[in-house]
Amino acid sequence: MKPNISQTSPIGIFDSGIGGLTVARAVMNALPNEDIIYFGDSARVPYGIKSRETVRNYSNQIARFLLYKGVKMIIIACNTASAAAHDSVQTLAEDIPVINVIESGTKAAIRSGKKQIGVIGTIATIGSGAYETSLKSADASIKIKSKACPLLVPLAEEGWLDNEVTRQTIDIYLNSFKNNGVEALILGCTHYPLFKETIQEYFDDKPIELIDSAESVAESAKKSLGKLELLSYSNRQGTLTCYVSDRPQRFNELAERFLGREPENIFVESLRDFEDEWEGGINIPLYTG
Ligand code: DGL
Repeated sequence: MKPNISQTSPIGIFDSGIGGLTVARAVMNALPNEDIIYFGDSARVPYGIKSRETVRNYSNQIARFLLYKGVKMIIIACNTASAAAHDSVQTLAEDIPVINVIESGTKAAIRSGKKQIGVIGTIATIGSGAYETSLKSADASIKIKSKACPLLVPLAEEGWLDNEVTRQTIDIYLNSFKNNGVEALILGCTHYPLFKETIQEYFDDKPIELIDSAESVAESAKKSLGKLELLSYSNRQGTLTCYVSDRPQRFNELAERFLGREPENIFVESLRDFEDEWEGGINIPLYTG
């Protein structure tokens, strides 16, 4: 492990934007004494409709920023980035552990003991087949049905968690899960845990288990840091410091919904200094604060 990494180093968490705060919240509940550095790529959200190549480039840049900040672990909170970039981020991080929501969601699904699993996520996550691959390699007998539910992301950001439009949208996306034998549904997107109650109500007549990747990634982080003897033994409350690539004000306004409370510190960070070699010259101007 790098010499500057210790038990008091922060945990790095990143997402395409605000949604990963559901993961930060779960990590804060499971590990209340840890300091967290969160990066939300608000300049380039959404990732869920972008190509794998672009999402990998963005994720690598953010990983380099977090490593520069001296994190002892990187948690990829974004399902789309988990599907596209876990391996490249782990290569950059060397021996610093990288964990992602897809692996953790898979572990939770296996623990549920259910054999018919549904997966919902962004177009990119579902298109990548990453949950299928991960679930099948854990248990080849599992049957998987998946569905992209892209409109749930803007609805969550708008705060429309259980109104008429949201219930209709959920019905259109999820009605095929009502009678296709699915026993557990993985909420494979940072924003979907916000709809837990509405989805549970939707399946009220024939309940299915909802699997929240945010909670299971927090458990994985605790286990992995414990094994490496990198858990913080500090008895003070950990801090949450957020960096965003654009519009800190909007982040702040939405943060409470995702986090359950206001974040303490929000900074704006340009990622210019953390650029990779851009293949094909993909680049966009970034907010420089
Ligand atoms: N964070 C993304 C995910 O979990 C959802 C938002 C986006 O499309 O960037 O896949």
